[in-house]
Amino acid sequence: MALSVKDLEAGYGKVQVLFKVSLEVQKGTITALIGPNGAGKTTTLLSVMGVVKPWGGSVLLNGADIIEVPPHKKVELGVVLVPEGRRLFPNMTVEENLLMGAYVKRARRYVHDSLDYVYSLFPRLKERRKQKAGTLSGGEQQMLAIGRALMARPEVLLIDEPSAGLAPKVVAEVFEAFKRIKETSTILLVEQNVSAALAVADYGYVLENGRAVLSGPSEDLLENPHVKRAYLGV
Ligand SMILES: Nc1ncnc2c1ncn2[C@@H]1O[C@H](COP(=O)(O)OP(=O)(O)O)[C@@H](O)[C@H]1O
Ligand SMILES: [Mg+2]
Repeated sequence: MALSVKDLEAGYGKVQVLFKVSLEVQKGTITALIGPNGAGKTTTLLSVMGVVKPWGGSVLLNGADIIEVPPHKKVELGVVLVPEGRRLFPNMTVEENLLMGAYVKRARRYVHDSLDYVYSLFPRLKERRKQKAGTLSGGEQQMLAIGRALMARPEVLLIDEPSAGLAPKVVAEVFEAFKRIKETSTILLVEQNVSAALAVADYGYVLENGRAVLSGPSEDLLENPHVKRAYLGV
């Protein structure tokens, strides 16, 4: 397993949000983590990164426990988060934002290859490389946030709600890129857009009230009565 989360527990102050969440992300796949607003999806990603300090459980990268490793060192190990809301540097250009992603040691010597790779994935970023990030459309900003994470040469890419606020056509364009990205980086994809997420993912987990209540291959989840009723409106 590229990433294994076992019995993860976390919360804020005294309020517990995650209750023994376990999930496995197999190398070279896209694994979707879906569930309603407030279920704990973002908290799961932040706990994996160590931005939120887990109360218990384990986080394994290629079998080694990294739960105590601080967030910046996790990036050095190849675990990289594309946060909710994108968090770009709006007054820096597209290319400057991308270069910021390559500051980690593991990535520095590949900067030129990585830029070529990101620009081939998202040609629109190349066209706009001298433009300030703040002037991009929502879809382009999401591409830039993903591109910046790829500049760190991630082994495991954690992506939080990339479809948020985007038109369906743009969502399709961004998700199409995930199929290419998974050839080099394993993806854990958090989404409220369940149909789009399961369409691109190999495997999925449903998180409800801080608990992983259901999991399976995406095609099975798409046929699951609870998933259909609660998330697909069919
Ligand atoms: N910084 C925080 N402080 C206190 N409570 C938080 C914080 N962030 C999230 N929560 C709470 O934790 C729960 C899970 O939130 P979150 O992980 O953001 O869910 P999701 O990403 O699935 O929408 C919610 O009840 C939310 O209100
Ligand atoms: Mg969230």
